[in-house]
Amino acid sequence: MRIRILGSGAGGGFPQWNCNCANCRAVRAGAPGFLPRTQSSLAVSANGEDWLLLNASPDLREQIAAAPELSPRRDDPVRASPIKAVALTNGDVDHVAGLLNLREAQPFNIYAARRVIDALAANPIFSILQPQLVPRIELAMETPTSVSGASVDLGLSLRAFPVPGKIALYLEDRNAPNFGTSAGDTLGLEVIETATGASFFYVPGCAQVDAPLAARLRHAALVFFDGTLFEEEEMIRQGLMGKTGSRMGHINMSGEDGSLAAFTPLDVKRKIYVHINNSNPVLDEHSNAYATVQAAGWEVGEDGMEVIL
Ligand code: MLT
Ligand code: MN
Ligand code: ZN
Repeated sequence: MRIRILGSGAGGGFPQWNCNCANCRAVRAGAPGFLPRTQSSLAVSANGEDWLLLNASPDLREQIAAAPELSPRRDDPVRASPIKAVALTNGDVDHVAGLLNLREAQPFNIYAARRVIDALAANPIFSILQPQLVPRIELAMETPTSVSGASVDLGLSLRAFPVPGKIALYLEDRNAPNFGTSAGDTLGLEVIETATGASFFYVPGCAQVDAPLAARLRHAALVFFDGTLFEEEEMIRQGLMGKTGSRMGHINMSGEDGSLAAFTPLDVKRKIYVHINNSNPVLDEHSNAYATVQAAGWEVGEDGMEVIL
């Protein structure tokens, strides 16, 4: 199985268009130790030819341009794409807006939780993806769903499971408990290669590593995990936004309740942070935060990084 990080940044990317925080200033200036990052997406293939996207970011057009295997091959018909399917972990803008880049009457399948399919259906702009060409298929929870698209079997299946999280920002109900979040608003995915049974986990949004999630990830070969923030209050401290990580539905890396501590007992063979927000000090390779996560056995995801499993 081949896995490519298309975008390792969180919503807004790195640098973010309207952000002048220290990190965004540094990356804009080309400072050493800072890499630009596009928004949150992975691509996976069992045969190296047909690809499943995990989330479709607003940067998808440039992500496709940067990955030759995602464009039509020389001898393909006049209309063709190796992208056969897209699976969505939530309805956030950084994960669904790229679907609009996949218009032009090209068949592929969309896999998502019922609540996310409903959110797409409620927004008429997504009807540019005609349902007869681009079916929206509900992911069952826990039971693996085999992945196909454009009449191709991708040799992959998805075991979806709800994780602690939050409803998409644009759907928040300020008067409802937890803003109207319910199960299925934020999913984790286990991507399984049918032929070998090899699998990895993709959890780009997660508010907490609770006991069921910890049990599921224990001894995993590979986990891509929510690396939004290093500290719960970093966006407030940097004057960027008045929200904590938990208010945004994201766990922080550091601290007793953070992902570094939560993963320490889990014996995960390879763990890679993705969905990294521009405020996160790990985006500076010379920072203490970067050294801390490396010492704990984590990799900080980069655009274009490839993993063979
Ligand atoms: C998030 O990860 O919290 C969202 O992408 C925020 C947003 O929609 O901008
Ligand atoms: Mn996001
Ligand atoms: Zn910034």
